[in-house]
Amino acid sequence: MSPSQAIVVVDENVHHVGQRVAAALDVPARIVSVSPGEKSKSLAEAERLYGVLLEARADRATCVVAVGGGVIGDLAGYVAATYARGLPLLMVPTSLLAQLDSSVGGKVGVNFGGIKNIVGAFHQPVAVHVATDWLATLPAREVRCGLGEAVRCAFTLDAALFAWIEANARALVQLEPAAMRHLIHECCRRKAQVVQEDPLERSGRRMVLNAGHTVGHVLESSAGLGESLRHGEAVAIGLVAECRIAEALGWIDAAVTARLVAVLEALGMQHAVPRLDPEYVMHAMSRDKKAHHGKLRFALARGIGTADVTADVPLDLLMTTLQALAR
Ligand SMILES: NC(=O)c1ccc[n+]([C@@H]2O[C@H](COP(=O)([O-])OP(=O)(O)OC[C@H]3O[C@@H](n4cnc5c(N)ncnc54)[C@H](O)[C@@H]3O)[C@@H](O)[C@H]2O)c1
Ligand SMILES: [Zn+2]
Repeated sequence: MSPSQAIVVVDENVHHVGQRVAAALDVPARIVSVSPGEKSKSLAEAERLYGVLLEARADRATCVVAVGGGVIGDLAGYVAATYARGLPLLMVPTSLLAQLDSSVGGKVGVNFGGIKNIVGAFHQPVAVHVATDWLATLPAREVRCGLGEAVRCAFTLDAALFAWIEANARALVQLEPAAMRHLIHECCRRKAQVVQEDPLERSGRRMVLNAGHTVGHVLESSAGLGESLRHGEAVAIGLVAECRIAEALGWIDAAVTARLVAVLEALGMQHAVPRLDPEYVMHAMSRDKKAHHGKLRFALARGIGTADVTADVPLDLLMTTLQALAR
């Protein structure tokens, strides 16, 4: 069915992109601005958007267009997934993280009760439109966040891509267009392959994409839902922490972690946290939705470019690792 109208949900910081996208659509479009930041990924904000859809008499021929970073994609995607049992969704990611990771794969959702993404759905976009030109205005810190997810993708799934990142770190930090295009293309391709094998995260295969995220999500929420530690930064630190666990389990040797740390440093990324309350972390982890039959699951490295999912990480090992991180 071809759409009859579009609701363009846009992050205030990229309002100009929303206007350009709305003008390029060949159906009437209404633009709705959303305040930047993780706080907008809430049920209250979803409710406000439902109100806009209601007012616009939206039906299944109404396309929701998400213009912004992962926050907008997750929020607008969740609204598209749930309003009238599902509206078509077009993603126009403008942050590096959204271009190479969050806009692909169909996971949408909002935060609730202090837990990241706990209310959500699987809703595949009809299309994802990536233009690297939008990255020109992205703050350097946000570029690093995107690079954090890219490193996670390569480190977990593709040794050749990881080596390419090692060799091209400088070009990536400088946002060289050809390097960015290659990185985004490869990350989306690798993620899409895994998602195709397990679109609804049933077989466990898709869980490998969560490397760095079991520890990462907790770091992010203990920092106050992304205010002092951004998602991509938390994932990078989480990846290093989870490598220490993999080392302790005898899955990898320290040289693998050392290569990861070196590439994060080359990209100007932090890989350790100063203060952390292990008690809080344990509490937050116990509420992680990746838990299965009450056991936390980790996607741990088996080497560069390969990882396996396990629920067999002894509690005392986890605690020791987190305490070491906190130093
Ligand atoms: N659905 C998924 O599969 C998935 C995967 C990874 C992350 N996520 C989610 O994505 C979110 C993080 O995404 P993010 O890092 O894009 O955060 P974000 O959406 O908050 O964007 C980061 C910042 O960059 C600004 N911005 C975006 N594009 C810009 C541009 N072109 N120029 C200038 N400023 C720009 C935004 O206003 C914001 O301040 C988290 O909520 C995370 O949970 C979802
Ligand atoms: Zn992520």
